[in-house]
Amino acid sequence: MRVLVADASADIRGGVADRLKAEGFERVAEAANVDEAIRKLSEGLASRQSVDMVLLGLNLPDREGLEGLSEILGVFDVLLLLLADRHQRPTAVEGLSKGAVDYLLRPLDYDLLLLKVEKQLTRRFMQRELRRSTARNETLFLNVLAVMAKVLEAKDPYTRFHSEKVSTLAASIAREYGFADDEVRRIGIAGILHDLGKMGVKEAILKKPGPLDPEERTAVQRHPVIAATILEPIEQLQSAIGFIKYHHEHFDGTGYPEGRRGEEIPLGARIIHCAEAFDAMVSRRSYNTPRTGEQALEELKRCAGGQFDPECVKVLEAVLRKSGQLSLPSDKGSSGRNLAQLLEDLTGTVSTEDANPRNSGLKDAVEDGPEDAGG
Ligand SMILES: [Fe+2]
Repeated sequence: MRVLVADASADIRGGVADRLKAEGFERVAEAANVDEAIRKLSEGLASRQSVDMVLLGLNLPDREGLEGLSEILGVFDVLLLLLADRHQRPTAVEGLSKGAVDYLLRPLDYDLLLLKVEKQLTRRFMQRELRRSTARNETLFLNVLAVMAKVLEAKDPYTRFHSEKVSTLAASIAREYGFADDEVRRIGIAGILHDLGKMGVKEAILKKPGPLDPEERTAVQRHPVIAATILEPIEQLQSAIGFIKYHHEHFDGTGYPEGRRGEEIPLGARIIHCAEAFDAMVSRRSYNTPRTGEQALEELKRCAGGQFDPECVKVLEAVLRKSGQLSLPSDKGSSGRNLAQLLEDLTGTVSTEDANPRNSGLKDAVEDGPEDAGG
């Protein structure tokens, strides 16, 4: 932890530095004015030895009042503690509302100063460690997701790259809706995992090269609930589970597993339903001929208001036209990024809270697409 003491009084600078060094602070720098302080902060930043805390006197000759505070906090991520004369107390109090963490009045009580500096630096250290720990947990979490998606691909080769493509398209739709980054990530992650429940469906059914009989169809249609059950213990996924569980619900209430309709279906689920249906129609599978992007879009529009959320279809069309995907040959239309890239894009804190109020009332549309057996 590095401290910079910026004060017009050489006695104060020396006194504070001596006291801090006596208490074990080895990296204490001094500045006699704001320009010098900013130069030393910049040098620290450039040499990867950033200053953590600035003790800033309100008596510096080259700035008025809180100008120095504003300039420093406008550029540098530091804790700033003000040193003020008694008549400057109102300015120091105002400084608290402008980002200073605390202030001290002269004549300085060095024991109190040490207490305040240690308290603030300890808090900063703990916050930094917490951020590092959160980043490590998140990496681990995303790796677990990657393994889950790969396990499913191994079991159901027809869905190879399907999860990535659905995730990419669903996240693009969410972005087009104007959702916050956290919500886009949640929908992207749900896109990767949406068919995870197929791990609980017999391979013979998943690989059957043709239409399913009613019993087989029922077995496949359990996959959203199976996925929700598998993912339920993962705290970070709580707000995304609904997107997965309801990704086969239809806007008109004719889908599964619960027959929800309209905005009873989470919007994330309605988005994934559209993305999945589009990808299913343009992808080559063992039992169908892929449609072109324009043909698939026409089918989605035909089913808008029935199977699909009409607004969601509109947003999907906007995404496809902007990206030029509709003009690509079939089976190339909904190009997904590889899993590693996708997970990198999705890196970020996956909040367990719903960031977007629209989240709870989404629309959902296409099933597996007209040709999809329920996947
Ligand atoms: Fe599915």
